Amino acid sequence: MLSYLLVLAVLVTVDAQIIKGEQKDDSCVCKLSSSIWGFPTAKFEAAQNKLQTCEENLIEFRKKIQASNVQMPKLELSLKNIKTRLKPFEYLDTNGLYNALHLQQLVQELDQMYSTASDIHKKTSSKEIEGLLKELTNAKKEAQDMYKDNFFNLETMKSKLLDLNNRVQTCKTIPEDFSSTCHQRIMSSISSPVVTKLNSMSKSYISGAWGRDAKQDNKERYFEHCLMSGNQLGITIRIYNSYEDFIASKNYKDETIAPSYGDKNAVQGSGTIFYDNTVFYQCYNSIEICSFNITTKATKRMKLDGAEINKFPFCYYSCRDWTDFDLEADQDAVWVIYATEENHGNIVVRRLDPLSLNTTHTWKTRLFKRSVTNTFMVCGVLYATRFVNTYREEVFYAFDTLTGQEINTLSLPFEKVAAGIANLNYNPVDRRLYMYNDGYLLAYNTFN
Ligand SMILES: *[C@@H]1O[C@H](CO)[C@@H](O)[C@H](O)[C@H]1NC(C)=O
Ligand SMILES: *[C@@H]1O[C@H](CO)[C@@H](O)[C@H](O)[C@H]1NC(C)=O
Repeated sequence: MLSYLLVLAVLVTVDAQIIKGEQKDDSCVCKLSSSIWGFPTAKFEAAQNKLQTCEENLIEFRKKIQASNVQMPKLELSLKNIKTRLKPFEYLDTNGLYNALHLQQLVQELDQMYSTASDIHKKTSSKEIEGLLKELTNAKKEAQDMYKDNFFNLETMKSKLLDLNNRVQTCKTIPEDFSSTCHQRIMSSISSPVVTKLNSMSKSYISGAWGRDAKQDNKERYFEHCLMSGNQLGITIRIYNSYEDFIASKNYKDETIAPSYGDKNAVQGSGTIFYDNTVFYQCYNSIEICSFNITTKATKRMKLDGAEINKFPFCYYSCRDWTDFDLEADQDAVWVIYATEENHGNIVVRRLDPLSLNTTHTWKTRLFKRSVTNTFMVCGVLYATRFVNTYREEVFYAFDTLTGQEINTLSLPFEKVAAGIANLNYNPVDRRLYMYNDGYLLAYNTFN
């Protein structure tokens, strides 16, 4: 298996060089996007948990052996050996290889230990040995599961494939104004809040979204969307036709998106965005994106293959449920930021055509979605933030879809009035960043 994968990596590299030469409809491209990502890949957390349990069990065995004072020098040595060998597996991203061979060897070692222990059991039966056998059985099963479920992974391979995928995406035709409005790619600072207001409904609605219609030349409209029903669901959206009305919480119109909270078109989660008088959001209890056009009252749906419900929410500091899809908008596209198991829970960015909801591009980052507070897009650059303290948040990461480059060294702080962030979205019309901050609505000016 190992050598097969490595051979393939070489082939793929060769293909990618061909792709770079503008042959974007080359069949190699299809091969890359359809088959490569089907590889068995590690379920990061599950694998880590299993390793932890496994190692804990081993530590327990050792304690028991010592406690029962049975002479098993060989077993002891085996334990030490396995523990050392488990070390490299502890973090998939530091020591790379995580392959079937290691796991098979681990299972074999556990088998040997088991037979040694049961020999002893036959001669001198004791409670300790019985317990030990039971736990060895469990550990063996765990190791076998790791093997069976393909919990092995080649980190370098993954990394290579990721780069290749992103390069292919960027190879695709990218519209002119994708980059034209942003002469300098990366944002340089964020102002103090220029708007700070409690939402117009209730302080208890700590989850939701707010902002301004993101389509250039469209009527100036502000939206306010508070999640009800356990901070999970919404069925209406509050629209203001001017900034003054928004500030005064008057002359608004509550538009109905769905008839009830259990309706399939109800809004789930706080990733909502408003573009071209249309609400884009995660549809109730599904991995589909919905768009509700307020002008026509029509709802469209599109499935995001590989997405998960409440498995990879934003989790930095504390997990915020129902943040599976973070929708963003710019001049002529809607973006969705989410995570897939296939990409190890790391963020995937898709660019959608707002009218058909068809995907035009898909990039895969190395940023673990659960390790950030929230994200937003500016001029095709994805930004991620992390919690510093209750009153301070920091942009620490950027991913440029134009180059596929990741920047991990950003430090753009900005102020908050409460700890948690339900939604962050950038508006290309007024170049403001909008935040739903535990029931408070804040906005900032941004500088490139
Ligand atoms: C919403 O409907 C209006 C009227 O038909 C149309 O002009 C607009 O393009 C639609 N927008 C979206 C995003 O569906
Ligand atoms: C969207 O995708 C569907 C299905 O692949 C296709 O039939 C349709 O033509 C696409 N629409 C646009 C506007 O690209």
